[in-house]
Amino acid sequence: MTSQRSQAVLLALACLLGLVVVIATFRRTTPPAPDPQPAVTSETPKADPVALYRPTVVPDRIILTFASDPATSQAVTWRTDTTVKAPVAEFALAADGPVFEKGWRGYDEKLVKRLAARTERLTADGHHAHYHSVNFTDLAPKTKYVYRVGDGSNWSEWFQFETASKDPEPFGFIYFGDAQNGIRSLWSRVARGAYSDMPKARFIVHAGDLVDAGNSDPQWGEWHAAAGWINGMVPSVPAPGNHEYSDPKGITRHWRPQFTLPEHGPEGLTETCYFLDYQGVRVVVLNSNEKHAEQAAWLEKTLATNPNRWTVVTFHHPFYSPVAGRDNPAVREAWRKVFDAVPKGVDLVLQGHDHTYGRSGLMREDNRLDGTQVQTARGTVYVVSVSGAKLYTGGDLTWMKRRGSGAQLYQLIRVEGDELVYESRTARGDLYDAFRLKKRADGGNDLIEGENPPGPEGPSGPDTPAVAGGNGGGVGARGAWNAVVAVVILALVALAVGWAVRGR
Ligand SMILES: [Fe+2]
Repeated sequence: MTSQRSQAVLLALACLLGLVVVIATFRRTTPPAPDPQPAVTSETPKADPVALYRPTVVPDRIILTFASDPATSQAVTWRTDTTVKAPVAEFALAADGPVFEKGWRGYDEKLVKRLAARTERLTADGHHAHYHSVNFTDLAPKTKYVYRVGDGSNWSEWFQFETASKDPEPFGFIYFGDAQNGIRSLWSRVARGAYSDMPKARFIVHAGDLVDAGNSDPQWGEWHAAAGWINGMVPSVPAPGNHEYSDPKGITRHWRPQFTLPEHGPEGLTETCYFLDYQGVRVVVLNSNEKHAEQAAWLEKTLATNPNRWTVVTFHHPFYSPVAGRDNPAVREAWRKVFDAVPKGVDLVLQGHDHTYGRSGLMREDNRLDGTQVQTARGTVYVVSVSGAKLYTGGDLTWMKRRGSGAQLYQLIRVEGDELVYESRTARGDLYDAFRLKKRADGGNDLIEGENPPGPEGPSGPDTPAVAGGNGGGVGARGAWNAVVAVVILALVALAVGWAVRGR
């Protein structure tokens, strides 16, 4: 009996020890109660946005654009206050060491060329600024250069760029739909994400509505700050949207001073309607806000004389809207017949305005409206995208092969000989849409759909599996298992104690 009682006491002790272990484990795996959120009722006064972006003697808003042939030229524009009277830009062949700046090892003044800038005065939101521009010309194709801008006392850092090849060669570029809203707070992530994914992009297409209020200096300040030094290294190719036309007199007074662009467009559309040729691609920028008929005639000539294998066109108001009730018949009727008639065709059209995503199949007037190609020789892929924070809900219109709402997006486009490879990615960097255009011998394209994420609405819904199946579920299951083990151990303890008592 004594032995039995001892065994019962030992069993009870073992069970009690097990219970303690389980309770300790259970306590460790139970998530702690969240700390209360810190208050955000700071009494610090809000910074004046106009004052934040006031110009100084130090160059800012430095941005590369193309004003002429990208193989032999590169334009740069920057801003200072109005005390800067003799602005210059310096440039040199890029070297591995600092030989282009005085005072550093290997410096040779003969390596550096200095050009006087052209200056335009701009008064906006109560302060005066000077916008300076220089077009570096007679550059060697496919060559790396460095440059800086300043006035002898204050200089920018040295930036680096590479001129285009004279010949068709593979390259990539970035395309953004409307930035427009939440530019500093929310568009910056997209701009920087795109650059991170394609740091060797040769230019960035902006399909209009870069800001919300075209004459707002703080908004342009946000736009320049969001992309920051990327704009000093990767040239921008901007098209104006309706929000750049918020001034009753026409395009915002910021546009021409801050972008140095080709001036070969139709009269009255200088620097808002232009084209450039880049390594086998003609990129045509149209101004969908005004003078559609004048641009149709110019476009006809520009497409007819295109020596390149590929043609990409960008403008703001889409031919085919992803949202019912936002049709733009005037734009479509003015230009679509030009696109369809040109022997080489237009391969890709990049648009904005509708704050959602839609992408067609190979469209033309005599193909079906859903993009199904019945006229096999030609066809254009039309895209509408958005990069900023204002997001509309798209429709379910038949022309879209891929549609989606609720995601900020950027597009990476590569042209590689016979192929144009297109990807749209979300702000997180996830693939959203993909296709390839394969150029046939007759000049037309075959459209090859990519491995697109399932579902027409894309991968960025609020209830993605990654969220629903996160760590929270695992902790809950472990807790339930521990509770079951604890109950079993408690029952064993009770049995053992009862056995010991009876043994007495
Ligand atoms: Fe717009």
